[in-house]
Amino acid sequence: MSLRAVKGMKDILPNEISKWHRLEHAFRQRVEGYGFREARFPIVEPTALFVRSIGETTDIVEKEMYTFTDRGEKSLTLRPEGTASAVRAFVQHSVQAKEPVTKWYYIGPMYRRERPAKGRYRQFYQAGIEVFGDSGPFIDAEVIDMVVGFISSLGISEVEVLINSIGGPETRHAYREALLGYLTPYRAELCSDCQRRMDANPLRVLDCKVPRCAEIAADAPSILKHLADEDRAHFDGLQETLNVLGTPYRVDGSLVRGLDYYTRTSFEVLGKGAGLGAQNALLGGGRYDQMVKSLGGSQTPAIGFAMGLERLLMAMPDGPPDRHVDVFIVAAQADVRAEATLLGRELRDAGLRVESDLRGGSLKSQLRRADKINARIAMILGESEIEAGVVQLKDLQEQTQDEVPRTQAAARVHALLSE
Ligand code: HAM
Repeated sequence: MSLRAVKGMKDILPNEISKWHRLEHAFRQRVEGYGFREARFPIVEPTALFVRSIGETTDIVEKEMYTFTDRGEKSLTLRPEGTASAVRAFVQHSVQAKEPVTKWYYIGPMYRRERPAKGRYRQFYQAGIEVFGDSGPFIDAEVIDMVVGFISSLGISEVEVLINSIGGPETRHAYREALLGYLTPYRAELCSDCQRRMDANPLRVLDCKVPRCAEIAADAPSILKHLADEDRAHFDGLQETLNVLGTPYRVDGSLVRGLDYYTRTSFEVLGKGAGLGAQNALLGGGRYDQMVKSLGGSQTPAIGFAMGLERLLMAMPDGPPDRHVDVFIVAAQADVRAEATLLGRELRDAGLRVESDLRGGSLKSQLRRADKINARIAMILGESEIEAGVVQLKDLQEQTQDEVPRTQAAARVHALLSE
């Protein structure tokens, strides 16, 4: 049997790549406009990093990590997300001692052994940001406003922005009691995972996908009713700032993210348009004010989000047809191919993207190929053109043809492209 890619992992071939480039470029531009700088982290990390930060009772850690033993020694894991690595790097390089506020972004593959479905893969790409050193709530609002603006700039209009606060340790303590009081009578009806979660981390029950658990969770008391005064003021501040910015949002007291590290602000943006199906969370994020300290750093508040690039691509309208070649050089006779190669280099040195078919072949077949790859210009070079120091410049878009001195060929193409 021939070998195939691992289930849930996809190849991205050149015919799809321009949309990826467009998305990544737009993301970089947007976040760099807010002072974020790119960081790149290893794809493999010590397993303990994810267990300690994402949490032992989360689906990710319990069921979805690709974990292996490195040559019989260390337990390593393919990163299921980027935040834990960012925090590890932030602590490891003592970044908090160098700058008061740190703004990082990253783009890269993540790995979760989930059940593959439309919009849900085992290797998927995230683009995310993390801010360290600002306790908010203004930065929370700015980050949410930034990403909502970004999504709309991609032409994705039907979205819903959900925000919630899950408070700090004091709120969580009070809420835990209330939640346990509510869940206890249902204990026997919950799935075995949730029965365990009730003891270890009852908040996780609210994020369970098992239908009966979700039904029970739907009527659970809202954490928003249990916010401590400071958490309430923080959440009010977030909403007031979003109102000033005119950023649309809906408060959803039942929004519990699938990772344990969150405190206070949490948010998701859902895509409502066709094409996404059930996996409609375009991005998720929130504040994680305790994580830097719990991984060995000094107390540092932090907030961030990550977007699923495959899901954004599914929701984005198609752009103009891909053009990756400006000029296709056509060699009118087989024995001018050396000179055609030289012409190609001249044009590339002048900043053009140039293709040719150096295998030879008829004029007609070379022109057909120029059309097929959507080149804008076919530049024909034959013996008589070489002798006269000219080229034939065929504009495939405008269907015009012109004889141009070879020394002016690149400038003419540039002029046509910028029209
Ligand atoms: P997350 O909600 O687990 O958060 O993932 C963020 C986004 O990644 C999701 O909203 C979704 O678009 C995409 N995603 C997740 N799993 C898959 C999958 N199996 N296939 C395709 N796309 C997927 C985090 O990862 C946090 N690190 C976000 C964050 C950053 N919080 C603070 N800073």
